[in-house]
Amino acid sequence: MKIRLVDVALRAGVSTATVSRVLSDHPHVRPEVRGRVLNAIEELGYHPNRVARSLRGQKAAIIGVVISDIQNPFFTHLVRAVEDGAYAQQQAIFLCNTDEDVEKERFYLRLMVAEKVAGVVVCPASERGASLEPLLEAGIPVVTVDRRVYGVEVDSVLVDNVRATAAIIRHIIQDGHRRIAAILPSLTTTTGRQRHEGYLSAMQSAYLPIEEGLVRSGQPREVTGYRLTEEILELPSPPTAIFTGNNMLTVGAIRCLQERGIRIPEDMALVGFDDLEWMSILHPQLTVVAQPTYELGRTALRMLHQRIAEPNLPVRHIVLQARLIIRQSCARHDNGRGDLGRMVQA
Ligand code: RIB
Repeated sequence: MKIRLVDVALRAGVSTATVSRVLSDHPHVRPEVRGRVLNAIEELGYHPNRVARSLRGQKAAIIGVVISDIQNPFFTHLVRAVEDGAYAQQQAIFLCNTDEDVEKERFYLRLMVAEKVAGVVVCPASERGASLEPLLEAGIPVVTVDRRVYGVEVDSVLVDNVRATAAIIRHIIQDGHRRIAAILPSLTTTTGRQRHEGYLSAMQSAYLPIEEGLVRSGQPREVTGYRLTEEILELPSPPTAIFTGNNMLTVGAIRCLQERGIRIPEDMALVGFDDLEWMSILHPQLTVVAQPTYELGRTALRMLHQRIAEPNLPVRHIVLQARLIIRQSCARHDNGRGDLGRMVQA
């Protein structure tokens, strides 16, 4: 039976992240813990795949890139940055799309191991670090982009989703909106969970009630945005504003509102997460949070190249700042309480 990293962790009574740190000679492991892990490795006869480890000495020509929705233009810009950086280093990319599906992601990560890629940039379909274990056991460097995983020690780069979402919700509160719906990506991903946190933070800071029916989440796709907007419009008392937590959800919401003749922003304010070229030529132009998408991809590849060159670097978590772009899809709203545009502090 093949001994896995998790078997060593169980025998030593530590996390798989700690076993990873011992295997990569990470400095921040207490001597007695290191001893327990090394004893467990010896007793179980655990041998990480040394072939892949030896690859680090060679300049393998392939960088694995795993994204969660190949039809989402956000990932086109992200992958473009990785491809530009890889080509500059005479490397090619091996691109896989998981469709936000953990099983599909696991299949592709095992394929990356089999193909002995030099390293992998991955936008994980969940926050469970166990899905990355095939790569970690094979000693293949990994950087997560746009989202994080927990329970394993890997580099990551993403934007400050909480701060950016809180800023755009505060903006429409300052416009006078008090009942604001949130249509979010799945809460099992970092982006869905953190954008939810940002929404809650802004509403609570303004002492506004959180109405359960106004907060919905699902797969970040157009059809989800349409369906959840429809559900919100069918509430006995619909809100006066909607926040959509990614560009695909935004498209679905716009289609749903337009089909019902609901005017933006006169009848319903709409603000979103992610900026795309067409959002500034739409009528009305959309108010959004803009991610530094190309910078995300470029940073992820730079971190991966550094990890390939120096496996024992301390793990890094880089957080980039997004921008608020105020356009025309939100407007002042007279909530009938005379506190139009009252400034609220987060
Ligand atoms: O549209 C892409 C964005 O929404 C990314 O942050 C991705 O994680 C999704 O949540």
